[in-house]
Amino acid sequence: MTDPDYDNFCRLARERSGLVLTPAKAYLVSGRLEPVARAEKLAGVPELLARLRSGAPEALIQRCIDAMATHESYFFRDGTPFEQLTTSVLPTLIAARQNTRSLRIWCAACSSGQEPYSIAMILQEMGARLAGWKIEIIATDMSEPVLTKARSGIYNEFEVKRGLSPERLARWFKPQGTGWQVSPVLQQMVQFRSHNLLKGTTGMGVLDVIFCRNVLIYFDVDHKRQILEQLHRAMANDGSLFLGSAETVMGLSQTIEPVTGMRGLYRRSQVGVARVA
Ligand SMILES: C[S@@+](CC[C@H](N)C(=O)[O-])C[C@H]1O[C@@H](n2cnc3c(N)ncnc32)[C@H](O)[C@@H]1O
Repeated sequence: MTDPDYDNFCRLARERSGLVLTPAKAYLVSGRLEPVARAEKLAGVPELLARLRSGAPEALIQRCIDAMATHESYFFRDGTPFEQLTTSVLPTLIAARQNTRSLRIWCAACSSGQEPYSIAMILQEMGARLAGWKIEIIATDMSEPVLTKARSGIYNEFEVKRGLSPERLARWFKPQGTGWQVSPVLQQMVQFRSHNLLKGTTGMGVLDVIFCRNVLIYFDVDHKRQILEQLHRAMANDGSLFLGSAETVMGLSQTIEPVTGMRGLYRRSQVGVARVA
């Protein structure tokens, strides 16, 4: 693995996905690209990196970028954001949207779908309070393989054991082969779309709730700032933003602020909101 080939791949990863790779991450690059090199019948990762530098097909570049992403996700991940959504964010929005009776929720960097399906379960479980409402859950990721899995709604035994209570498993899933299939009711609530966070939020419209969790952590400061600014512009004035537990807006955004006492929950800065109003 010569340095120019490695440096070229680091540049590609940063430009295309925002992922920051340093020389210290060479072990990670080797581990994650090894299966791609094998599938391409190349001698190893150094040959794959050399091929990427000498002009590889777009599909191969994309596979390598995708192989570097961390797709870890599970149902009701970290618990607290979903409790905050249920007990605070949604009740407030339901009261505020009585005229339009519509809600738009964006789950950005949704990976294999556990996060948007968790949100869909919560909305369904609110029952009569949302009866007749127009609810959109838009779930996006830049990785086609994870979106394909998300759309299928099929999870294995290990995946459904992570975060789902036995009651929710019984209520919202049906056995499917050796795994489980999410109910059509939930599947119909979520629109999965391909979207790269580095490409802005055009076409997303105004969102009442945005989940953008466990992805900013991989980006450098400039990309974090850029994405937070775009999320700010896409949020309704009284909208809510959930970030991951290791993520923050501190030192990165003056237009988004933490909600006091609600770890991981953010809103438009009230100074900015007052100015717009
Ligand atoms: C660790 S998963 C987080 C999944 C989910 N949000 C959660 O917290 O469980 C990170 C996801 O971000 C996606 N991702 C990485 N860079 C991205 C980008 N620039 N645009 C859109 N998605 C991206 C990856 O494909 C991956 O599926």
